[in-house]
Amino acid sequence: MMDTLTQEGWLPLLETRLLGRGENRCLDSTDSTNIQARRMALAGAPHGSLCLSETQSAGKGRLGRSWESPAGKGLWLSVIIRPRLKPEQAPLVTLCAAIAMARSVREAAGLEARIKWPNDLIYAGRKLCGILLEIGATVEEINYIIVGTGLNVYEGVYSPELKDRAAAIAEFTEPPERRRLLVSYLAALEDVLDRLETQGFRGIEEEYAALSCTIGSDVNVIGAQQFTGRAEAIDETGALLVRTGEGELCRVLAGDVSVRGVMGYV
Ligand code: BTN
Repeated sequence: MMDTLTQEGWLPLLETRLLGRGENRCLDSTDSTNIQARRMALAGAPHGSLCLSETQSAGKGRLGRSWESPAGKGLWLSVIIRPRLKPEQAPLVTLCAAIAMARSVREAAGLEARIKWPNDLIYAGRKLCGILLEIGATVEEINYIIVGTGLNVYEGVYSPELKDRAAAIAEFTEPPERRRLLVSYLAALEDVLDRLETQGFRGIEEEYAALSCTIGSDVNVIGAQQFTGRAEAIDETGALLVRTGEGELCRVLAGDVSVRGVMGYV
């Protein structure tokens, strides 16, 4: 059977209360699902609405990078959420999305993927999935968050810079249909967000740490300041706590830096 992402194909499998049950746009091609989802959010689309596309011509990555989205090869998806959270808790939603994607890849594909802080999903030392959140908020209140995820399911033709860093599920195992990854991700995201809304950081801390390949590892922090240390934990703001060789504990914020394992990409 063809692995398609039409709404008729995945809606009957959906086990969520709200995610995937708003306004859904399932496209063949678009510039960026994050851009389209933002439009939908500004036009009033309810919590749980989503936009996905078979390919993107201007997929966006973190830190101003672009994201390669070969046609039919992945899950290029943006979910609109309107959570009951304070704007300062938004970075924690990024961690929720990473947990949900890790759960989905583990459950639906059987791959023990792990999270590189803050929110790359890694398998065999390469990146399976990237996550980009965009927020509309005032200082008091979140209006919407766009949770964008790019999961490589089948091998695409990647640019030379990406070839050694990107991985796809199909390189390691028979991939599940993308609609199965989609519905299991949406169910996991709903569950993890519920826990964040009701219990705060404590509700997600343990599962994030268990899935993380950064916590407990030596890392290079690359940003305004550059240093090497041992990543010990994340704090309740989602920042990474890194112990330097001199014994000092430094808080590293996601927007500022990238963190690389001392021995390579992870
Ligand atoms: C990263 O740099 O790791 C984040 C990549 C996020 C890519 C996804 S694909 C679906 C959504 N639409 C976009 O334009 N970007 C995100």
